[in-house]
Amino acid sequence: MLKVGIIGAGLYGLNHFTAFAQRAKYLGDIKLVGFAEVDAQRRAAMEKQYAVPAYADYRELIEREHPDALTVVTPDHLHYNIVMDCLERRIPVLVEKPLSTSLEEAKAMAKAADTYETLLQVDFHKRFDPYHIDLKFRIQEGTLGKIQYGYCWMEDVLRVGTDMIGKKSWNNQGSPGWFLAIHMIDLSYWLMDCPKPVSVSAFGFKGKLKSMGIDIYDSMKIQVAYDNGTAITYDTTVVLPNSHESVVRQGVKMVGTEGFMEVNSQYRGARGCSTNTGMETPNLGMTFRDYDKDGNLIKKGYFADSIYDFVENLKYLQNGHSLAELKGKYASGWQGVDSVKVGVAMHESAMKNGITIDISNW
Ligand SMILES: NC(=O)c1ccc[n+]([C@@H]2O[C@H](COP(=O)([O-])OP(=O)(O)OC[C@H]3O[C@@H](n4cnc5c(N)ncnc54)[C@H](O)[C@@H]3O)[C@@H](O)[C@H]2O)c1
Repeated sequence: MLKVGIIGAGLYGLNHFTAFAQRAKYLGDIKLVGFAEVDAQRRAAMEKQYAVPAYADYRELIEREHPDALTVVTPDHLHYNIVMDCLERRIPVLVEKPLSTSLEEAKAMAKAADTYETLLQVDFHKRFDPYHIDLKFRIQEGTLGKIQYGYCWMEDVLRVGTDMIGKKSWNNQGSPGWFLAIHMIDLSYWLMDCPKPVSVSAFGFKGKLKSMGIDIYDSMKIQVAYDNGTAITYDTTVVLPNSHESVVRQGVKMVGTEGFMEVNSQYRGARGCSTNTGMETPNLGMTFRDYDKDGNLIKKGYFADSIYDFVENLKYLQNGHSLAELKGKYASGWQGVDSVKVGVAMHESAMKNGITIDISNW
């Protein structure tokens, strides 16, 4: 049985707890041995809910519980030190997207994974959406011909800007580019079998959040060219009206010489309105509810499949396979670096009014 721990028990950390608690209960191949959270109130609440040892310092979690693997779910700019500490101890890590907001840090983590021959995986869960998996098959089989261009959008409501990436603890370091567009940057890259990004231009727009005292971009418009001859455009915002029918609008369109395929990754055909919810389009790909045979409520969907893929990789390695055999079959540190290159370049370009940044030698 694999002993796993979680570092960072904030909003998204809750999904890691849910996934691991369910896996432990129904498959029994892992055990959640503890978690680390610096915020005392949050730590106490999660300790009460999950009844596992809680630590303020992740190093103490490591020293006391000896986890076989850890997941890192701290804010975007606070992944590096923790991931490096894990890798140096040869503890496999699943880190939330983006790998980092710094290219130097991202490369150092990917290198450390090589040096210490330890699994480093980035939690890009859009790779586990069945609609996206099918789209990848179609592209690989040549159904769409040679992909020429694409368009992705991920647009969230204002409370994501104010209460998530704009909250005080994120220290004005959040960005819709890092928080949202990075999902789509990895998704389109993965759909095309990971071509190298070669140039990036982007515009960033400030105004709404700034007027509320949060000095980060409201929105970004990004264009990336790849070495397979394609160019993909990404639109992202965190200032949609809070009254919008879902937290997020999101989707991907890929266009090739023989056709196109568009996936609305939010609106899957289920749309409704009630006095309790208002208008809604639930993304039932990411999370849907079910009951187990004893009537307990459980949560399924690609949010969990992505975390379970990390567990499957750990078991594969435990069964005597090598990291080399896993290469290309998961979102590795080096694949994470490719998306960080785009992330860094799009922010640099946005600061310089959209000039094209050549990243072919980054
Ligand atoms: N896959 C997704 O769809 C998805 C969605 C939301 C967030 N995320 C990612 O998850 C990460 C966390 O985002 P969030 O929304 O949960 O942020 P959050 O601010 O709600 O939670 C982060 C938590 O980490 C804690 N923390 C910070 N430093 C720590 C340390 N050294 N040790 C232990 N705990 C520490 C904070 O106190 C906080 O509770 C980010 O990288 C974010 O981009 C992914």
